[in-house]
Amino acid sequence: MNVGVVGVTGYVGAELVRWILQHPQLELGAVVGRSAVGQRLDAILPSLAGLVDHVVADFVPSDLAKLDVVALATPHGVAKHLVPALEAAGVPRILDLSADHRHAAGWVYGQPEWNGEFLVNAARVAVPGCFATAISLSLAPLVAAGAVRGPVHVAAITGSTGSGATPSGGTHHPERFANLRAYKVLSHQHVPEIRAFLGSLGEAPQLAFVPQSGPFDRGIFATSFVPVDPDIDARAVVVDAYAHHPLVRIREATPELRFVRGTGFCDLAIHDGGEGLAVVLAAIDNLGRGAATQAIQCLEHMGGLTPATPVPAAIP
Ligand SMILES: NC(=O)c1ccc[n+]([C@@H]2O[C@H](COP(=O)([O-])OP(=O)(O)OC[C@H]3O[C@@H](n4cnc5c(N)ncnc54)[C@H](OP(=O)(O)O)[C@@H]3O)[C@@H](O)[C@H]2O)c1
Repeated sequence: MNVGVVGVTGYVGAELVRWILQHPQLELGAVVGRSAVGQRLDAILPSLAGLVDHVVADFVPSDLAKLDVVALATPHGVAKHLVPALEAAGVPRILDLSADHRHAAGWVYGQPEWNGEFLVNAARVAVPGCFATAISLSLAPLVAAGAVRGPVHVAAITGSTGSGATPSGGTHHPERFANLRAYKVLSHQHVPEIRAFLGSLGEAPQLAFVPQSGPFDRGIFATSFVPVDPDIDARAVVVDAYAHHPLVRIREATPELRFVRGTGFCDLAIHDGGEGLAVVLAAIDNLGRGAATQAIQCLEHMGGLTPATPVPAAIP
């Protein structure tokens, strides 16, 4: 499957390229940027030296029409202007990693473990957001089982790559290092996204979400406090839900960011004291499972490909 990546100079676009190059059934057909047009890809991403000879191209829809799929890794609000031009040029499949089409008619929400059947042969797929991925994977089994009994409280910490390659006050190293702070308390844009997805599985609970900025570059660690039916074993429900999904791993005590860094895994741990409150802990790499590797899972479904062998994290 020949894939074009738009937004290759950004963090998500670059990570997607890294995963496409490793996939036995995917080919990197074109790379499109804005600031680096005409430059060799390995000049702007030196880790790719010796692996690619692509040159960053301008966004020309007719040049992308020969590809099997175009992936858009552009900022919020950009993809919705690019998609009509791609459609007019006849691009057969489009994958949007931004938030522009996550609620759009005609697009499949790209949650591979739960929406896999809708992704097969899909032509328009919206890849979930990074916080949404960690939290949705944590809560989906309990919602689908009808086991949630009230509002869910979530605190989740993200690394600095979560806000993209352009520096800002919130990502500047001296302000982030050795620091922890909350932002968009109870107002993060992923709450409606998570609730819409959970609502497709069962009754979506109210969600009180406190996002936090952590002093690390990659990763999301989410803690969900879930009121549950005291008669169910919440851990067993979650373990059972992911028994046949190798990219969701169950940990005994806690997941750790370092074991998912640079991978497509979501690691979960579930604690249920049997008194009606379960705690679900989740760790993902925001650029991996929170974006690029989830896009790869979607592409595998869209093209009927064999799932690639998962890679372990590099540690320490
Ligand atoms: N970062 C994460 O952890 C994460 C996780 C999940 C989803 N996402 C979503 O993925 C998307 C990309 O995120 P990111 O972190 O990679 O952002 P980023 O580092 O800021 O990269 C954005 C990319 O889009 C290009 N671009 C910007 N404006 C454009 C325009 N008007 N037309 C065409 N291209 C344009 C940029 O090109 P130039 O640099 O050449 O201008 C760059 O290649 C966002 O929608 C984000 O919400 C991000």
